[in-house]
Amino acid sequence: MARPTFYITTPIYYPSDRLHIGHAYTTVAADAMARFKRMTGHDVWFLTGSDEHGQKIERAARARGLAPKAYVDEIVAGFKDLWARLDISYDDFIRTTEPRHTRVVAAIFTRLYEQGDIYKATYEGWYCTPCETFWAEARLVDGNCPDCGRPVELVREESYFFRLAKYADRLLEHIARHPEFIQPETRRNEVVSFVKMGLEDLCVSRTTFNWGIQVPFDPRHVVYVWIDALTNYISALGYGTPDDELFRKFWPADVHLVGKDIIRFHCIIWPILLMALGIELPRRVVGHGWLLLESGKMSKSKGNVVDPMVLMDRYGVDAIRYYLLRELPPGGDGYYSEDNLVARINTDLANDLGNLLSRLTAMAAKYQDGAIEPPAAYEDLDQDLVDLAVGTPGEMARLMDAFDLPGALAAVWRLVNRANKYIEETAPWALAREGRRDRLATVLYNLAEAYRFATVMLMPFMPGLAPRVWAQLGLADRPDLTAWDALQWGRLPAGVRIKRGAPLFPRIEAAK
Ligand code: ME8
Ligand code: MG
Repeated sequence: MARPTFYITTPIYYPSDRLHIGHAYTTVAADAMARFKRMTGHDVWFLTGSDEHGQKIERAARARGLAPKAYVDEIVAGFKDLWARLDISYDDFIRTTEPRHTRVVAAIFTRLYEQGDIYKATYEGWYCTPCETFWAEARLVDGNCPDCGRPVELVREESYFFRLAKYADRLLEHIARHPEFIQPETRRNEVVSFVKMGLEDLCVSRTTFNWGIQVPFDPRHVVYVWIDALTNYISALGYGTPDDELFRKFWPADVHLVGKDIIRFHCIIWPILLMALGIELPRRVVGHGWLLLESGKMSKSKGNVVDPMVLMDRYGVDAIRYYLLRELPPGGDGYYSEDNLVARINTDLANDLGNLLSRLTAMAAKYQDGAIEPPAAYEDLDQDLVDLAVGTPGEMARLMDAFDLPGALAAVWRLVNRANKYIEETAPWALAREGRRDRLATVLYNLAEAYRFATVMLMPFMPGLAPRVWAQLGLADRPDLTAWDALQWGRLPAGVRIKRGAPLFPRIEAAK
């Protein structure tokens, strides 16, 4: 039987500057989900990329004295370095300057014009360049962009318009029929009330700058950057070309993961564009909250960004991934601070997770010459640990499907901490002293088995962790025992040789 497919996307980020940990958050979260789905038997396609056109990029390039293409080439190379360093397992990276993308956008624009969903008129209104958004006067707040609060510019030019208003009722109906389409619910309510306030047709071309995809039948115009950008999700699959196997296989997307700042583009403009083209809508758009600093939202123009490369040099890739995924509550905002980060590393990673392995390997070395021996009869205490271990994968899968990544991590940590408590309860040192070898063997077996469970479940979150654990647990060449399907209690064979290694996560001292 064919494996179920799973198509997940991140936003394509603007190469207007280097990326910060807010962008890293979205991509790491999508990566954890992609890895989880691959592990659990799905045929996954994971897309990311860069949104390279528009006035904002043109200005950023000019400010550095570079041609836009030369400028974005340099910045996008930096995106790819960052994703490589963060262990991002994307299947494709789309750049909106690639011909495979520009061709599709041009064809779609022409088709919508020919079918009457795009028409020519004059736009007169406001434009927020940092957000690349048109605003009617009535929506401005104190004369500024209602989204980012920055000044807007007056725009008056001949433009093409897309008939958004025509599709508003169909969109509302779709949202009502598919409650899972926009998540979480607060985001859905936001979108619904925005649409109910009345949609205006959308200006979809500009004539006052050149850095964009030309309108094929009217080359003085370039396509509005959001129409260009959203199309990446299908152009990358070869939509509308002879080479469209990926589109036929993976569309509709299972998840567009985005920040709440761009939920409206993904839940209003994008579905309406797809409706007009007669294409199925994505199954889910998940809008996560923001990673904030005490001083507000991280933003390039505020100059308060935190560079993920610097943090990884200091604390390691897995620790940064863990922190990001653990810290942002589903749908809500979270605060970044280096103190929080260090506290998480010391408590969760060094203490709970790292010490458990150190204690287990030290006891196996000291009491059983480094071997895991077969368990004897179980007591209630053992069964309690086993029940929790056996129930956790299902619990984790349920939380992952709800996109509750911190919840999924917390579920694994309940097992880790239960195992730590099990050591106190069973007191292996006393068993050794009393010569109760069978009981001791049972306890160490159960600890190793629980650790195997926890490690497999952490693979999507911290891809660098498992190989280091398997080396210590003697499972380095046992892929059959380190896969999701191997999460059956008792699969760990007696006789594996434990090799003590360096601590997984050394404690960070306050002085640093
Ligand atoms: O909007 N906290 O690109 P962009 C959490 N090109 N997430 C954050 C964040 C923060 N502080 N800051 C940024 C664009 N993000 C368009 C997208 S898609 C067809 C086009 C993340 O470079 C979050 O996912 O401004 C947000 O939606 C995205 O970066 C915006 O990236
Ligand atoms: Mg932005």
